Amino acid sequence: MTGGLRVAVLASGRGSNLQALLDARAAGALPGVELALVASDVPDAAALVRARAAGVEALAVDRKAFPGREAFEAALLAALAARAVDTVVLAGFMRLLSGRFLGAYPDRVINIHPSLLPAFPGMHAVAQAVAHGVKVAGCTVHLVDEGTDTGPILLQAAVPVLDGDTEDTLAARVLIEEHRLLPEALRRLARGGLERQGRLARLPPA
Ligand code: GRF
Repeated sequence: MTGGLRVAVLASGRGSNLQALLDARAAGALPGVELALVASDVPDAAALVRARAAGVEALAVDRKAFPGREAFEAALLAALAARAVDTVVLAGFMRLLSGRFLGAYPDRVINIHPSLLPAFPGMHAVAQAVAHGVKVAGCTVHLVDEGTDTGPILLQAAVPVLDGDTEDTLAARVLIEEHRLLPEALRRLARGGLERQGRLARLPPA
């Protein structure tokens, strides 16, 4: 058992994955996880509203207010450091983070992505899966590196593609699994003992 995690969630939009974390926390299902901050690069993101409603500090770090990524990330890093954050969860955060940012949180930045990586990284993953005709879709929680959805995989869940599925119908079923998988990943991360060998990473057992 470790001393627990002090977590910042970064989100750019709707925030349903953040909500899954807030709900898990309220249900006592995230032992050892302190949600210290929710930050968004988009000042009117619904995620910030959700955080405040749950009594978690919400902070807008408006990307447009900074001349470049370096200054934006420096502001973000300062906000995280000021709250003694040790773990960062990207929950619909729509920006790539630099090596400089990631270097401040080695193996401590995780992301949720709506595909079975390495298939369909990047934007519109569910639409890509439908267009490709795959029969099994899903979602992935992974450690973040400098690439786009390329970091070591922590957890995955499969979702069958049904005849007639559209991006919307499939995304809705994938999202149900996302909302289960992300809290599980954080819960297991908080138990300590993440194993990492090259790109192979393993969370402690459930
Ligand atoms: C989710 O599908 C997540 O996997 C992806 O962006 C979407 C964010 O949705 N990275 P929400 O803001 O959590 O509702």
